[in-house]
Amino acid sequence: MEIRTTLCLSPKPKPPVDSLGFGKYFTDHMFTLEYNTLVGWHDASIVPYGPLSLDPASMVLHYGQGVFEGLKCYKAADGRILLFRPEKNFERLNLSHERVCIPKIDVNFCVEALTRLIQIDKDWIPGDPDASLYIRPFTFAAESALGVHPSSSYKFMIILSPVGSYYPEGINPVRIYVEDEYVRAVRGGLGFTKAIANYASSLKGQEKAKEKGYTQVLWLDGVERKYIEEVGTMNVFFVIGSKTSGPDELVTPEINGSILRGITRESVIELARSWGVIVKERRISIQELYDVHKQGLLKEAFGSGTAAVISPIKEFNWDGRSITLGGDIGPMARRLYDTLTGIQYGRLPDTFGWVKEVGGL
Ligand code: COI
Repeated sequence: MEIRTTLCLSPKPKPPVDSLGFGKYFTDHMFTLEYNTLVGWHDASIVPYGPLSLDPASMVLHYGQGVFEGLKCYKAADGRILLFRPEKNFERLNLSHERVCIPKIDVNFCVEALTRLIQIDKDWIPGDPDASLYIRPFTFAAESALGVHPSSSYKFMIILSPVGSYYPEGINPVRIYVEDEYVRAVRGGLGFTKAIANYASSLKGQEKAKEKGYTQVLWLDGVERKYIEEVGTMNVFFVIGSKTSGPDELVTPEINGSILRGITRESVIELARSWGVIVKERRISIQELYDVHKQGLLKEAFGSGTAAVISPIKEFNWDGRSITLGGDIGPMARRLYDTLTGIQYGRLPDTFGWVKEVGGL
């Protein structure tokens, strides 16, 4: 499919790197693609970044038929522009599409469109060691109608945002509130997708945690409210020592239909296994976490996601009971963070073939 390009005539000034934060600034261009039932996906264009004109009856505004993705683009020290496993994001976009009845998009075409957009806005990729260009692909129902049914038209877009670190406090360990009132998702629902509704459902719990002085929420399963699912917008990992002087294990909740199939999660598992670490994808209850901590066997806890990469956890509050870890990032989290970011920024050899070069500066 041809991509029509209209360049922006008045580029914006670039914000200073130390003011970037997360998702506050947007580049000069955006990618748009239309769908209708007659022609399928069509009309691919790169246009100057700007507001959309939406009919007030656009179905996404009423019934939430929309999904998104998140990935990052990195500038290597030698000027190469690198993406991390971009096909995985567009494969997962299609998984999300499928769940909320949006027609699939060609993965290779999405990567090509993204590559073109990045090449046009490449001056926006920050050169700072911890900064990157966050990529937000998203799709929404565009038909103007109030009947509850899958939309007959959609818009797929990609916008780009230069970002610093996700948490203002950087890679410092965070405090987590274990949420046992609100739930993020249930099996059979949307939890395994990046449907926008999941994030709406997480806001109340996040706000409650913040009011209580915590950075993020630990989500439990939606039925028994016992089993650990995710932390904030991330997958979660624990390093648990052995009762019988065997090796430590890296434990993460198994993919069960309500947990997001994180690309960083998958990369963490592959990396750790390649180092000989025993990785267990299994159910883990909050009671078990509390018990292993009491026995002195909980050595590390951390979240994994695109935005924060690895986010060490220093404390969980479970209904007033505290599970406290050391205040520093643990050796497993540190090694994973250094290796993942090393590969992403082209500082380390890409032995897994995860990095895709999409141009140079
Ligand atoms: C991620 O870290 O993968 C995310 O999806 C975070 C985003 C919702 C800001």
